[in-house]
Amino acid sequence: MNILLIGAGYIGGTVLSYLSSNYRVHVLDPAFADIGYVNHSEADIDALLNAHTSNIDLYNSPSDLPIKKFGLSIICLPTNWSSHSSALDINIYQEVFKQIVECQISIQNTIIRSTLDVDSFPSILNILDTNNFRTNLIYFPEFLREGSAYSDLIDPHISIIGGQLSGISTKQLSSFIPINFNNLHIVPINMAILAKMSFNAWRALKVSVANEIMRLCSSLNIDSNEFANLFISDTAQNIGKAYLKPGYSYGGPCLPKDTMAFASLFARNSIASPLFSAVNDSNASHVNFISKLILKHLSSVSSNSIAFDSLEFKRNTMDLRNSQFVDIALSLLDSGISVYVPKEEFLEFLGLVPKKHSSSIFSWPPVSDLHLYEFFPGRVSEQNIFLSRFNLNDLFHF
Ligand SMILES: NC(=O)c1ccc[n+]([C@@H]2O[C@H](COP(=O)([O-])OP(=O)(O)OC[C@H]3O[C@@H](n4cnc5c(N)ncnc54)[C@H](O)[C@@H]3O)[C@@H](O)[C@H]2O)c1
Repeated sequence: MNILLIGAGYIGGTVLSYLSSNYRVHVLDPAFADIGYVNHSEADIDALLNAHTSNIDLYNSPSDLPIKKFGLSIICLPTNWSSHSSALDINIYQEVFKQIVECQISIQNTIIRSTLDVDSFPSILNILDTNNFRTNLIYFPEFLREGSAYSDLIDPHISIIGGQLSGISTKQLSSFIPINFNNLHIVPINMAILAKMSFNAWRALKVSVANEIMRLCSSLNIDSNEFANLFISDTAQNIGKAYLKPGYSYGGPCLPKDTMAFASLFARNSIASPLFSAVNDSNASHVNFISKLILKHLSSVSSNSIAFDSLEFKRNTMDLRNSQFVDIALSLLDSGISVYVPKEEFLEFLGLVPKKHSSSIFSWPPVSDLHLYEFFPGRVSEQNIFLSRFNLNDLFHF
């Protein structure tokens, strides 16, 4: 199979060091075509590239390629941040694809390893479609880290493939690009694009959280390393899977108030904390988002009333303090929706509601002993009664 590698910089050079050990590779990269060889700043990769120069054919542009038919193309072009367009710059991608189309080069599977964003992918597809260029496009993001590029490449901790390979199995692909079959995810292209971007942003967020706490520690004369060790020793709830599933916003007597107190500790010590000071705001945005989804649903079933089976922040606590469901109910009242709440919670809820809304609140028995049709006599069908704690996924799909 003829293999074409486009872009032989940090990522492309690392991929090439692995590929050229076993295969002859046609490489498009003007920077290296000019000097006649591919070098790399990591010594182990540079040594591999040097050892296999006879397997590497370098070209300046697609028009120089001596063959026109490739089974596999791996693209590692730069996609730098453009402050002008506030997006990743994919101009180089567009140019290279245009040249490939003009030179009538055929490629069965095109594997993109650069970091793309969700908006850039359709524009690449558009170039191919408008030129009637057929190639099976796969997005296979690279997660290697500079400094340990080769070992990360050959022993990936995760492999995410966006799209479906054509005429080649993942097993075959793994002889060109190492794949972790124990942690392999074949997903839609947009999901793979989002994975690469969000994984990196999440790591950046973790670094920034640790550093915000470190700044506070230094102001409070607390050893920040010792504190970091204490922080990560809670592997049940601080580190790991806990709290990372999306759903309703948080609420209750602890998280909102303690987050507020923590953010104000930064402020009182004149320490910048753009993250922690914004956490409760982010939570409030989520209340807004959920309320809008519910409004959309209510409008789709022509209803202007909603019944909550409970307003507790967490099931079976009977605790309405800072409850996210109270916030959602208040937001719906603001939008003119009538709200039905269980009779046990009615008075407490009424006390939390601005007077102007009190006539839009109704009490009802808890859902367990509820006969829905009795409760909304005459004007209600089952579908326009909306209970809280519905599966949020149901809301995303209408
Ligand atoms: N560096 C990393 O640690 C890392 C990790 C994962 C993903 N990525 C992503 O991989 C992609 C490549 O990153 P990189 O660090 O290897 O970039 P890089 O700048 O090191 O390499 C890009 C290469 O593309 C070549 N190039 C530029 N224009 C070209 C053209 N018209 N035709 C052919 N080649 C051309 C350049 O000469 C250069 O050698 C980016 O999207 C990046 O976000 C990078």
